[in-house]
Amino acid sequence: MIKNICCIGAGYVGGPTMAIIAQKCPGIKVTVVDLNEKRIADWNDPNVENIPIYEPGLSDVVAEARGRNLFFSTEVDKAIEEAEMIFISVNTPTKTYGVGKGMAADLKYIELCARQIARVAKTNKIVVEKSTLPVRTASAIKSILDHTGNGVQFQILSNPEFLAEGTAVEDLLAPDRVLIGGDSSEEGQKAIQALVDIYANWVPKEQILTTNVWSSELSKLTANAFLAQRVSSINAMSELCERTGADVNEVARAIGMDSRIGPKFLKSSVGFGGSCFQKDILNLVYIAKSYGLNEVADYWEQVIIMNDHQKRRFAKNIIKTLYNTVSGKKIAFLGWAFKKDTNDTRESAAIYVADDLLSEQAHIAVYDPKVSENQIYFDLNYLESRSELENKKGLEVLTDPYEVCKDAHAIAVLTEWDEFKTYDWQKIYNQMQKPAFVFDGRNLLNKKELEQIGFVYQAIGS
Ligand code: NAD
Ligand code: UDX
Repeated sequence: MIKNICCIGAGYVGGPTMAIIAQKCPGIKVTVVDLNEKRIADWNDPNVENIPIYEPGLSDVVAEARGRNLFFSTEVDKAIEEAEMIFISVNTPTKTYGVGKGMAADLKYIELCARQIARVAKTNKIVVEKSTLPVRTASAIKSILDHTGNGVQFQILSNPEFLAEGTAVEDLLAPDRVLIGGDSSEEGQKAIQALVDIYANWVPKEQILTTNVWSSELSKLTANAFLAQRVSSINAMSELCERTGADVNEVARAIGMDSRIGPKFLKSSVGFGGSCFQKDILNLVYIAKSYGLNEVADYWEQVIIMNDHQKRRFAKNIIKTLYNTVSGKKIAFLGWAFKKDTNDTRESAAIYVADDLLSEQAHIAVYDPKVSENQIYFDLNYLESRSELENKKGLEVLTDPYEVCKDAHAIAVLTEWDEFKTYDWQKIYNQMQKPAFVFDGRNLLNKKELEQIGFVYQAIGS
């Protein structure tokens, strides 16, 4: 029986995942460690509302378990040494340098973790890959652990995480399935069982799947590729709908009622964002290419090409509709996060739409209920399209949505936050330049109501 768990990486996955394990397994001590001191300090903030990750319901779970059997710390060595099971939940971003630049997953943080575990461990450990990794990474981790270790036995499991941001707590409490990949040896099977026993505290046994390590690693990339493909498929149809008079919402409904297709992940949008879809598909493309499977690589790459097109054509349409120029015009952005109910902005479509409009000399005002001003400038500056000063001049961030929309020539809805639906749209209309345009990148608002007020309303795919 495992009594002591360590998780390396206190991010969007490590934090919520370990909080739920701690909540559901009060007999297990769970320590989440990170090199980022600020992040750990925020997880330990006495006011639990200030934890660094916004997820509905998460602060209550943390409040219940923190200090009881859930701990956040920067003492990585100590936590590794104490634990019988170590989850690696560090980031695996797309490489920005060298071989595989812009495609392959950067595994330097994973390797650092493996080397640190090898250096510190004095007793046998089960090492769990929680991060999303290229297929066959476990063999690299094993090689590092076996060659620099202290004669300690390691078992490596793959246990990818399928939670989506914005619904992390509910996804973790009632997962569609938990996937655990491990070695077929007796020790491997024992390690699998130890992890199954943890999840079995709240997940029905039938929903805990066990496979070999490679299937588990590849299933995670496959799941994200399939999900993103659905979004790109419906987005491809949205452009055709706009040209033909069909309505993408009606098309989505019609096909979604086919039980073989199903209704989920058919919402047309300004394009998918988030830290996972693009990175994981690029990684898949890279892996396929590295095995010489060029057709497989091209097939999946098209999902990304379609998504880039969808983001770009949203910006282009704003410019075209505003009489082919947005220079000097105020464009109000409602939303910056990559989806509602999260403060995460990684790869958000808003960043790319803003970048295109700034290049056309628009003036942008942004309101997002959960994203900080610093984060918004960080996202834009990261693209290096212009100087930080120019970004500051071209874009302002305000905390009042009515101020953001005041005197604007157009409003662009970039995130589907529920509160946008409840605004006083008549008041917003009265304070805007006329004609007052709304470009709804999430098909969120009520077209009829807005048109009655006098807005020129454009949705995606109709
Ligand atoms: P994140 O960037 O939010 O968190 C990663 C954390 O790891 C950071 O706080 C970083 O400081 C820390 N870290 C990096 N190297 C470290 C080291 N050597 N020692 C200690 N701490 C270290 O990332 P995330 O969104 O939580 O994603 C983590 C992994 O989970 C990725 O592989 C991702 O693909 C995968 N994943 C993410 C999601 C999601 O929705 N975000 C869902 C499923 C899977
Ligand atoms: C995704 C996977 O869903 C999750 O299983 C995996 O663990 C991590 O990656 P996440 O990126 O957090 O989760 O959010 P998700 O709900 O998948 O949305 C991704 C993007 O697709 C968002 O920008 C969202 O707005 C967009 N999307 C999703 C659509 O545009 N239309 C849809 O129908 C669904």
